[in-house]
Amino acid sequence: MYEFRNWGIRIGILVLGVFLGLALYLSLSISQIKAAEEKKGDPAAGEKLFFDTQGLGALACVNCHKVNGKGADVGPDLSHVGQKPVEYLRESIVKPSAYIVPGYEILSIKMKDGKTIDGLKKGETDKELKIMDITDPDLKIQTIQKDQIESITPQPDSFMFSFEKILKEDQLNNIIAYLQTLK
Ligand code: HEC
Repeated sequence: MYEFRNWGIRIGILVLGVFLGLALYLSLSISQIKAAEEKKGDPAAGEKLFFDTQGLGALACVNCHKVNGKGADVGPDLSHVGQKPVEYLRESIVKPSAYIVPGYEILSIKMKDGKTIDGLKKGETDKELKIMDITDPDLKIQTIQKDQIESITPQPDSFMFSFEKILKEDQLNNIIAYLQTLK
């Protein structure tokens, strides 16, 4: 009788151990799935933030970027940016100067009359350049004659500032999740 009870307890402990192990394993994998989901972000919340000129104010993405015809033409059209790798999207937002999209460099243009214009190229013909003046609060586009240009020097820094300290981690993940839907 004593022997039997002893075995009963051992088996009981064994069953309990397996059960607890399984429960721990399940809860760990559920929290892992949750963490992955959190990192993946919520595209609907990201879309809202992208167009949020209230919350982000002048910093809102839509003030500079167009998506499917909506927004501004300061930076590149992002309607298909979701085809680019997710690491690139993240870097574009937190470290914009790491890679400047060709054609979107800030050009420092020295004119023959001594004036300089810093801006983004927004058009070109044989004789003229259209430059969005980034020192003008209204970002007006000026037309300058090519034969009046002394020199053009592309600048290393992006006109887009880093959002690293502006967006919280989950906001950043949400915006990236939204950009990934733009295929
Ligand atoms: C003040 C204007 C401005 C604002 C605001 C802005 N951007 Fe940009 N963005 C640019 C410019 C200019 C470029 C191109 C230069 C470069 O590559 O850094 C760019 C480039 C990008 C690119 C790379 C595009 C490509 O085709 O590879 C992404 C992605 C991007 N921005 C996302 C965003 C998001 C998301 C926001 C809002 C959180 C935002 N931007 C806010 C001006 C802006």
